[in-house]
Amino acid sequence: MTQAGVALGKDLFFDPRLSANEQISCASCHQPDYAFGDRTKFSVGHSGITLKRNTPPLFNLTWSESFFWDGGVKNLESLSFAALMNPDEMGVDLTDLCQKLNTDKHYKEAFKTAFGIDSVTSAYISRALAQYMRTLVSANSKYDSVQLGLTQYNNEEQEGERVFLKNCASCHTPPLFTDFGFHHNGIDQVYSLDNLSLTTGRFRITRDSLDLGKYKTSSLRNLKYTAPYMHDGRFANLDEVLVHYQNQNTLNQNQDSLVSLIKFSDKEKEELKSFLMTLENPSFD
Ligand code: HEC
Ligand code: HEC
Repeated sequence: MTQAGVALGKDLFFDPRLSANEQISCASCHQPDYAFGDRTKFSVGHSGITLKRNTPPLFNLTWSESFFWDGGVKNLESLSFAALMNPDEMGVDLTDLCQKLNTDKHYKEAFKTAFGIDSVTSAYISRALAQYMRTLVSANSKYDSVQLGLTQYNNEEQEGERVFLKNCASCHTPPLFTDFGFHHNGIDQVYSLDNLSLTTGRFRITRDSLDLGKYKTSSLRNLKYTAPYMHDGRFANLDEVLVHYQNQNTLNQNQDSLVSLIKFSDKEKEELKSFLMTLENPSFD
């Protein structure tokens, strides 16, 4: 990573000219005010078609082992092609895009400075975007200050951490609050095998029926900004999520046994919420 590469990636990330209709940038869906997610259940891309999965927030991607809700992409360098070319997201033709950027004085110079190239190519567009996205580090929450010994939890947060460590931490493992694994957390009992299998979870990638309904464990940092929750944004707020975990009792064969062991009272639910709010990083952008 270089300063010039990151700065160029940032320009590209916020530039709507990267989409076919020149109206949608990466930041239209990945908004800095909402931890680089958005407030909707499903975002709408350049074609006006509503997407089938909730837009995830973007932070701490440097440590991610796979991307997308089903882990369908393995590295950040190749990921941008999916967003740029998907007809429902930005719908751009990469050759046209490179031509456009090659006639832009600012970009021509910026690519030259960052990568020493005279002509913009799609591989370097993707590399610059990846460099910028790796700088989106969220590590300045109250939780982090407590870990550094700079501040302390109040009583409710302290109790909430205990409830969290007992019930949630094996999947939402600190300090990133994800184990990067794929689990069935009990939200779906039936799956529709639509043509893209977008609602079948990890099965879309592995085609193993044991992966039906499994999704990548979301990080629980910045929950304040990332509602609605889950891969399809089905829960409007944290209360709905916690009521789900409190009451899940239908045992789908793929449901993780750890989910079945979750147990906490209504008082503990409030404590858990207080703890989860310590994972918010207000200055992150
Ligand atoms: C129209 C909305 C939209 C636009 C525009 C968009 N994205 Fe996304 N992005 C999504 C959705 C929805 C997903 C989840 C896809 C999935 O899991 O199948 C996603 C997933 C991602 C992820 C994976 C995050 C993770 O933790 O797995 C990254 C990284 C990302 N997008 C970067 C970008 C970049 C870079 C651009 C611009 C080139 C972009 N996105 C444009 C909606 C959008
Ligand atoms: C067996 C692993 C597992 C356990 C245990 C678990 N979760 Fe999850 N959690 C997941 C997975 C997987 C997802 C993503 C599911 C999806 O999007 O469909 C998730 C999603 C979430 C989300 C939504 C995040 C977002 O941004 O959409 C919240 C909030 C959450 N879990 C909180 C908790 C809490 C609180 C506990 C403990 C009471 C807990 N989880 C226990 C695996 C687990």
